[in-house]
Amino acid sequence: MSDLELLALAKRAAANSYSPYSHFPVGAALECADGTVFTGCNIENAAYGDTICAERTAAVKAVSEGHRDFERIAIWGNSQGYCYPCGSCRQFLQEFNKYMTVIVGRGDGAYISLSLAEMMPYFFDF
Ligand code: THU
Repeated sequence: MSDLELLALAKRAAANSYSPYSHFPVGAALECADGTVFTGCNIENAAYGDTICAERTAAVKAVSEGHRDFERIAIWGNSQGYCYPCGSCRQFLQEFNKYMTVIVGRGDGAYISLSLAEMMPYFFDF
């Protein structure tokens, strides 16, 4: 699957976003080594801090279905700039593959591709 196709799945997943507080839907599409793709959206809560980001929704779906071999994730938000993953999501993703590819899209459809290690060089581990 091309980067653009994975990003299209992320954009489609954003349609399921539950974001009545921020009004900022985010979608993610996470591809595993065998080609399986898990999608996710952000799910907000009246207790704001309980909100789950799109990337972590996709990641927990994957791991809970037995897939830990993350290869690529595409993230889409209707933002002016690229929709980069927050620090918590970077930390969460690096647990499974520090060198995975992260494709970040923006509202106008433009996107770039980076490695997670490049985005988060000094992650927490022990
Ligand atoms: N959000 C994500 O889904 N992923 C990120 O990496 C950053 C932020 C969501 C959380 C919240 O629902 C909305 O974007 C605004 O912060």
